[in-house]
Amino acid sequence: MAKAAVDGVRSVALGVPDLKASAAFYANVWHLDRVAATAEAAYFRGTGAYHHILSLHRRPRPELISLDLTAPDRAAVEAIHAASRGSGAAEIAAPAVLAEPGGGYCFAFRDPEGRAIRVIAGDARHGDAAPRPDRPSKITHVVLNSRDRRAATAFFCDALGFRLIDETRALTFLNCNEDHHSIAFADGEGASLHHIAFEMVDIDSVMRGAGRMRDAGFGIEWGVGRHGPGDNVFAYFVGPNDEVIEYTAEVEQVDASYRVRGPAEWTWPPGRLDHWGIAVGPTDRLKAAQKKLRFAASATV
Ligand SMILES: [Fe+2]
Repeated sequence: MAKAAVDGVRSVALGVPDLKASAAFYANVWHLDRVAATAEAAYFRGTGAYHHILSLHRRPRPELISLDLTAPDRAAVEAIHAASRGSGAAEIAAPAVLAEPGGGYCFAFRDPEGRAIRVIAGDARHGDAAPRPDRPSKITHVVLNSRDRRAATAFFCDALGFRLIDETRALTFLNCNEDHHSIAFADGEGASLHHIAFEMVDIDSVMRGAGRMRDAGFGIEWGVGRHGPGDNVFAYFVGPNDEVIEYTAEVEQVDASYRVRGPAEWTWPPGRLDHWGIAVGPTDRLKAAQKKLRFAASATV
């Protein structure tokens, strides 16, 4: 029997000091839809089926509270829970039904570098999922900083069932479904957020989103361009909490036949950082923001 494995990134939980302003930004500028709210939190969906893809929680400072991954069913949650024991993970919560909007059967743990991760199955899904222009459908990948990319990759592959899909001098890309990558690791001083990528239906939607962001005072910090690994079109911004967020489209779809390449094959000609060569940045502001949001000490949401 195949090893139990996660099969997607559902959502990210962010701590934000100004919940009202951040919620207004993600609804009106970033173009997510608010699906639930409490006095202390707000939950946002994309046009895809996931109940929510982003939750914002009132906290004293901007921080990453948890990364929420999906598993196919309860048995997979329990199998991954069992596999995580003895792998250096520290349990936060044993498998149980989640008492938060979207629900689901979930266990939570800290990985060996201190990232709070939740594995969820059976959570609520929307029946009206359909791509819409100029609105994000889902989180297509999250990039995380790591002191030791090799060790982080080994943990995510062994305990969570990811596979290494590509590696450059700067990044290690991990795959868990048809999207080229759902997680990537960048070199950094510890467990912190590099960026969150939101999938748009097409390039036109990336461009319209970039224009809307600029109108709202959030200029492009890197882009518009087309990446090497993943072949996706990108535009990066620094959000209202110094979180780095990306609009992306045309992520390469892969299957088991994909040929994994390493740093020797992923190279650019001098002066190039993407296929097109027209991008602004990456700016120093972006590079600083890519290290700013740490994982919260408390992972309960
Ligand atoms: Fe990205």
